[in-house]
Amino acid sequence: MQLVLDYLKRHQARFVAELCDFLRLPSVSAQSQHKKDLQACAGWLAKHCRQIGLDARVYPTQGHPIVVAKTPRLKSSALAAPKHGEGGRPHFLVYGHYDVQPPEPLELWKSPPFEPRIAGRAIYARGTTDNKGQHFAHLKAVEAYLKTGTPLPCDLTFVIEGEEEVGSANLSKFLRSHRNELKCDAVVVSDTGMPDADHPALTYALRGIIAFEIIVRGPSRDLHSGIFGGAVDNPAMALSQLLARLRDRNGRVAIPGFYDGIAPLSAYERRQFKRLPASDRELRKLLGVKKLFGERGFTSLEQRSARPTFEINGLTSGYQGTGSKTIVPAWARAKITCRLVPNQQPAHVRRIVCDYLRQICPPTVRLEIAAGHGAEAYLVSPTSPQAQAALHALRQAFHREPVLMREGGSIPIVNEFKKILGADSLLLGLGLPDDNAHSPNEKFDLDCFEGGQRMSALLWQELSRPGL
Ligand code: BES
Ligand code: ZN
Repeated sequence: MQLVLDYLKRHQARFVAELCDFLRLPSVSAQSQHKKDLQACAGWLAKHCRQIGLDARVYPTQGHPIVVAKTPRLKSSALAAPKHGEGGRPHFLVYGHYDVQPPEPLELWKSPPFEPRIAGRAIYARGTTDNKGQHFAHLKAVEAYLKTGTPLPCDLTFVIEGEEEVGSANLSKFLRSHRNELKCDAVVVSDTGMPDADHPALTYALRGIIAFEIIVRGPSRDLHSGIFGGAVDNPAMALSQLLARLRDRNGRVAIPGFYDGIAPLSAYERRQFKRLPASDRELRKLLGVKKLFGERGFTSLEQRSARPTFEINGLTSGYQGTGSKTIVPAWARAKITCRLVPNQQPAHVRRIVCDYLRQICPPTVRLEIAAGHGAEAYLVSPTSPQAQAALHALRQAFHREPVLMREGGSIPIVNEFKKILGADSLLLGLGLPDDNAHSPNEKFDLDCFEGGQRMSALLWQELSRPGL
């Protein structure tokens, strides 16, 4: 092991330079003009995997390609990697995504989003923490094993997709058609965070999500607001009034049945929440808000991770150019996502939201609702032997006592790993709250990068212990 850890220490400068190459590829999955960039990025990644000694392939999909890279199999496990108890080595999947969020608004970046910049102990670029830097840490750990000739105690398969930020539409089909070769003892995912640099974390719950768009249509075209305004409903106003009825001033969602069936937090979980470093003052400063907001009776940590939400992600209507234009717009639209918690079924929540919207929509406008992606929340035992093994690796790698936490973001595919491959996901995030994921000036802390590499190297030893 020492050889592996020494190798990691010696090669940090090169690893950072390679990560910068990876970050220069603008793999924005949501924007169709970047389709070629996603292909180039998948190609770059597969080539890099081959350079470090993995067998890598790029699988095209109906959307963006999937990169699969495997550690060279030992003779005894040349066929499908056998599971524990079947006489073979354990097999783990490492999941990540090479696609990134759109970088807009560009004017708020201190340096261009696809020209990585190192300042202090951080790399700034779109996708650096979410998620290129995080899965790159795992690749570097494997490189250290392969290049020092240190035998790995398990087989590893990396599955790095290009559609996570747009709902992972093509990955479940891929998992189904490659079920046998992807059967594994657990999936390791570093695509979450830690509460601060002194608290490495194992995340045992993620929120689910439903996405949709609400379109309110009024007149057949934009109208002169002086000639017709007053006698025709204004779609922008009608949509605002609809939306305003969906949540009260205290942050409670006002859709009938929205909270049905949600389990309260257990005493064990409340104790874990208390161990987390959390200051509302610091949160307020970090986010630049005057005052925090939220449902009564829940701490801000609970609101952000264990309670469902209804959020407007985008709101568009009427004239957006400079100066004024006196019109009644023909339409208004809102992009919406709800975050879900365990026991909320995405299809059911989608239905009650749509039913309620239709019920309260005034007869003066037409309502259209376009459904988007959806996924259930994820919850896994934080006390399983695998979770304990992961905590041990975190402890050794970061020289700090790790914490257990729930997080508010979503990684839809982890549910499919469970359903299709029967495998739990160990969520070992390396992001920090001020990393600016999805925001301008995204960064990744180099200490998290390096700690993540050590964690990954140690993790395979801990997870492969006999009897686990
Ligand atoms: N890395 C995030 C998910 C995340 C972030 C989990 C922080 C926990 C803490 C991931 O890349 C992401 O942004 N997922 C999307 C999924 C959606 C598009 C279906 C999300 O949560 O918005
Ligand atoms: Zn993301």
